[in-house]
Amino acid sequence: MVRVVLLGCGFMGRMHASVYRLLPDAELVAVVDRDPEKASMFGQEFGVPSFTDYAACPVDHDAVDVCLPTHLHASATIEAAQSGKHVVCEKPMALTLPDADAMIEACSKAGVQLLVGHCIRFWPEYAHLKDLVDGGTLGRLLSLTLVRFGEFPHWSSENWLADESKSGGGVLDMHIHDTDFALYLLGTPLEVAAYGVVDDRGPSYAYTTLRYPGTVVLSEGGWNLPTHTPFKMAFRAVFERGAAIMDGGPLTVYRPGQEPEVVEFEQIEAEGGGNISSLGGYFVELKEFMDCLATGRRCTTVTPESSRQSLATVLEEIRQIRSRTAPPVSA
Ligand SMILES: NC(=O)c1ccc[n+]([C@@H]2O[C@H](COP(=O)([O-])OP(=O)(O)OC[C@H]3O[C@@H](n4cnc5c(N)ncnc54)[C@H](O)[C@@H]3O)[C@@H](O)[C@H]2O)c1
Repeated sequence: MVRVVLLGCGFMGRMHASVYRLLPDAELVAVVDRDPEKASMFGQEFGVPSFTDYAACPVDHDAVDVCLPTHLHASATIEAAQSGKHVVCEKPMALTLPDADAMIEACSKAGVQLLVGHCIRFWPEYAHLKDLVDGGTLGRLLSLTLVRFGEFPHWSSENWLADESKSGGGVLDMHIHDTDFALYLLGTPLEVAAYGVVDDRGPSYAYTTLRYPGTVVLSEGGWNLPTHTPFKMAFRAVFERGAAIMDGGPLTVYRPGQEPEVVEFEQIEAEGGGNISSLGGYFVELKEFMDCLATGRRCTTVTPESSRQSLATVLEEIRQIRSRTAPPVSA
C-alpha cells in the first residue's frame, strides 16, 4: 500500500483525492493546505488528518502529491525528496528550467521517483491515438491538429493563475498539455514556431507549429476566453490511410471505404468540479504511478527528463510569442 500525503486542497487536489479513493493500492493518509479551514474541511470530507504545513505533518507516508500553485512545485518537490518521499507533482513541472533541474537532481540524489502530471499522455483517447501512430496500421501520420481552450479559470485560490509570476500564464499552464503530448507522440521537433497573445495575465494563448520529418503538428490553446465559454479539447490526426478525430464527440477512426469506427472507453465520473468532468486521464495516471511505487518499477510513460523537455519547449514558444507580440493589452 502506498501512503500519500496531498499538498494543496484545491481543484486538482480534489481530483487526485477522488482518484485515491478508488485505487486499491494507494491510501490518502493526510492533507496539507495553508488555508486552515479549507484543509480541515477537506480532511473531514476524505476522512484523514489535515495540516497547514507539510514540515509539521507527523503522519508516516511513502509519497507526496504536489497539487500546489505552480511557483511552489520546485520547493515542495525538493523538500519531499529530501525527506525520502516519492513525488507526484502537477504540471507544469516548474516555472523555469533551473527549478526543473533542481527537482530532478533532488529526486535522483534521494533515489525517489518523480512523476509530473502530464495527464494527457494517460487520457484514453490520446493514448489510443499514440497506439495508432506507433502501430502504423493507418500508415504514417501526416498532420496533427491539437486544440485546448477555455474560459479564464477564475476559481484558483487567491486568483494565483492570473499572476504570471506564479502560473507562467495560460500558455505554460494550459497549452503545455498539447506540446507535451506532441513530444510524447513524435519526439523532439526539427522546428518550433509560435505566435500568440500576451495580456496582463502573461502569455495567455498560443498558436504553435511543430515540424517533424514528414509530419506537421499545429496546436492552439490557452485560457483567455470569457466566462461561460465551454472548455474544449480536440484533435484531428490525418494519416496516409485514415484519420482519427475527436472534436466534440467520441473519438472516431475513419478508414477509406469503411464505416467509421467509434472508439468506446470506460467512463469514470469525477467528484471534482471545474472544467473537466471525467477522472479518466487522472485515474490512469495515478494508478500507473502508484503501481510503479508499489512494485519498484520506473514509470516510463512520463519521465522527469521528458517533462523537462516539454517545459523547455513551451518556454521557447513563450519566448517566440513575446518576441512577436505587441505590448500587453488589458485582459
Ligand atoms: N493536470 C491538469 O489537467 C491540471 C488542471 C488544473 C490545474 N493543474 C495544476 O495543478 C496545480 C494546482 O492547481 P489548482 O487548480 O488545484 O489550484 P487551486 O488554487 O485550486 O489549489 C491550490 C491549493 O493550494 C493551496 N496553497 C497555496 N499555497 C500554499 C502553500 N504555501 N502551502 C500549502 N497550500 C497552499 C491553496 O490554498 C489551494 O487550496 C497547478 O500547478 C495547476 O497548473 C493541472
